[in-house]
Amino acid sequence: MPPNAAAELQNVSLVGQKKTAVVVGGINGNGGGIARRLAQLGCSRIIICTDDEKGGEKELEVLKRLAPKDWGLVAHFLPVDLADVKGMRAAAEAIQGAAGDSGIDYLVMSQIGAPTGLIKENADRHDTSFAIQCISRFALAYLLTTRGALAPEAVVLSVYYHWGHSLDDLSIEDLSLKRRLGTQSTTNMYKAQTRRDCTVLDSVNEELNFRYPQYRYYCLWPGLVTGDFSASAFPTYLKAVVWLGSKTLAVTPEQYSNVPVYILASPDAQRTLGPDRYFDHNLNSGTSMLGKWASDAKNREALWKKLKEIIGEKE
Ligand SMILES: NC(=O)c1ccc[n+]([C@@H]2O[C@H](COP(=O)([O-])OP(=O)(O)OC[C@H]3O[C@@H](n4cnc5c(N)ncnc54)[C@H](OP(=O)(O)O)[C@@H]3O)[C@@H](O)[C@H]2O)c1
Repeated sequence: MPPNAAAELQNVSLVGQKKTAVVVGGINGNGGGIARRLAQLGCSRIIICTDDEKGGEKELEVLKRLAPKDWGLVAHFLPVDLADVKGMRAAAEAIQGAAGDSGIDYLVMSQIGAPTGLIKENADRHDTSFAIQCISRFALAYLLTTRGALAPEAVVLSVYYHWGHSLDDLSIEDLSLKRRLGTQSTTNMYKAQTRRDCTVLDSVNEELNFRYPQYRYYCLWPGLVTGDFSASAFPTYLKAVVWLGSKTLAVTPEQYSNVPVYILASPDAQRTLGPDRYFDHNLNSGTSMLGKWASDAKNREALWKKLKEIIGEKE
């Protein structure tokens, strides 16, 4: 039986542990819930990053109000725009600078929502949604890991769709799926984009754990969580389902945040969860469910090389 994260966290405090957390997408939705829960538990330093310059400063006040009384939470807001490689590299540099020499204990990535079935090119000629959802997660995890920005035994969490979906015919020369555009309906494009995102992010997560075993990299599927996402952003065939689900089944970001924060902050989490690195909203594991494409080490190796090339890193 998986642990009950909310119940377990009632006995957890981070006060005095000098932990630094970075939450990308840390105002709205899942990221916002995670940042606020960490503040409640007494995390020493929280750095939130999004592209919402105005909301960031306001959210810092919320975090300080939630922190335990008389606990000197240090909270920073970094405006970042992860829509292209220039923005991703600038974000990694700013995050490392803000975290300082003691490094990042918890790196949470929860940027952007679902794909749209459309392609909108960014400055690098990649699909913007793919760039934010996938390339930026690779870029931040890779750059912060290899530049020495992580503290010893750091934990990296990426919140996205249900791991294990596979786009079996994914070509690393067509990661933005431009070749499919025009030959497929918006609905099929949406399905392919969702599967592509899972395939890429599962593969990246596998490689991170393999290459840097001194850290732990997790992928989390949150189920349905209320937030700023709007049913209107989804393709027609999903609008009604998403709307109904958000009104009936969805939990709040605060409720969901117990799961990721349990993984980050509970002293028991590593022992209880073992070597698994993929978890759903009830802490059920999915490591054995990786898709066909991401299970192939040759595919992952080729993708790793390609993503490094995309973000301008030499071999
Ligand atoms: N909510 C759900 O039910 C659900 C279900 C399954 C999976 N997920 C996955 O969970 C993750 C987070 O989803 P969510 O619902 O929490 O989304 P959300 O409420 O839309 O929050 C996404 C965050 O990403 C930030 N962001 C967007 N574009 C950015 C950019 N160019 N640069 C920097 N930050 C940017 C947003 O900042 P601004 O608001 O300032 O733009 C926001 O803080 C996504 O991968 C999503 O697919 C969510």
